[in-house]
Amino acid sequence: APKLTLVKSLSESAKLTSIPSNYAYFTNPIEPVASDPEEHSIPIIDFSLLTSGDPAQRSKIIQDLGKACEDWGGFMLINYGVPESLIKAVMETCIKFFNLTDEEKKEFDGKHVFDPIKCGTSLHGRMDTVLFWRDFLKVIVHPEFHFPYKPTGFGELAFEFCKRLRKLVRELLNGISENLGLEECYIEKTLDLDSGFQLFAANLYPPCPQPELAIGIPPHTDHGLLTILAQNEIGGLQVQHNGKWVNVDALSNCFFVNIGDHLEILSNGKYKSLVHQAIVNNKATRISLAIAHGPPLDAIVSPAAELVNNESYPAAYIPMKYKEYLELQQINPLDSKTTLNRVR
Ligand code: SIN
Ligand code: FE2
Repeated sequence: APKLTLVKSLSESAKLTSIPSNYAYFTNPIEPVASDPEEHSIPIIDFSLLTSGDPAQRSKIIQDLGKACEDWGGFMLINYGVPESLIKAVMETCIKFFNLTDEEKKEFDGKHVFDPIKCGTSLHGRMDTVLFWRDFLKVIVHPEFHFPYKPTGFGELAFEFCKRLRKLVRELLNGISENLGLEECYIEKTLDLDSGFQLFAANLYPPCPQPELAIGIPPHTDHGLLTILAQNEIGGLQVQHNGKWVNVDALSNCFFVNIGDHLEILSNGKYKSLVHQAIVNNKATRISLAIAHGPPLDAIVSPAAELVNNESYPAAYIPMKYKEYLELQQINPLDSKTTLNRVR
């Protein structure tokens, strides 16, 4: 396949006043964003209450967590115990990475689905008719840790960051297990999270001369159990809620957490994976870090037996190996829930 120009180089090329026609995604004006604050304000979960050791606080926050998962499929997370300085350092080093020359980045371009390091643009290795206004770096960081050797120190920072996120995700999944009426360590044990798959993705959205026509990432859901998202101060993430798009504000000291397809499957549909998209702007570069957490690649994921009752709650999804699901997702159009629909 011909190599695509990175959007960063494209946007920096002299006097770019319009997008190349293959980036035209929106044919209708962008749908208006929901504005009713009562109905459309994203739940906020205070992580420190989950781990404070106070049983009353814990059961309250587990209820809130369950409600957020059921009503939204995602939530803002505060007081998560990951140092802001670490998050900032990872983000700044990602920007340095994207600032390497195209020639230098080419060394990390990767070719296949499971290549541990892949740097590219749009949707990697796919010749879709419409291109997306984003560059990315995707790295498999668990169970084996990989990372580009430059910029200096990148790997050390990312290793520490990813390790802390795994711990965070485990605590959240313990709370979620409890909320689903399962044993506290149910997900952790059944899906062997010690060998779980963790994928680090940094997304770069350079300023776009016609943001109303292009899109960063079209509507989709994530594979896996939970994705943790950190972003710089430039917003662009939108989530679907009750049929409307809602902006996820780029607040500081705040992660956005969303449910992936495999938590929807495990919960037998009690929780729904969250449809989201990233829009672009013409003012400033946006960067987001999206870290996906799944079971081991060879795990077969199916609805938890405890949540299946053949009369009232028959299994709503067929069992499939996580690795096969990921391969399927590569060849499906990145569009809403197409891959999940294949296992229904
Ligand atoms: C993603 O969906 O992978 C990233 C979304 C974002 O950049 O906010
Ligand atoms: Fe996503």
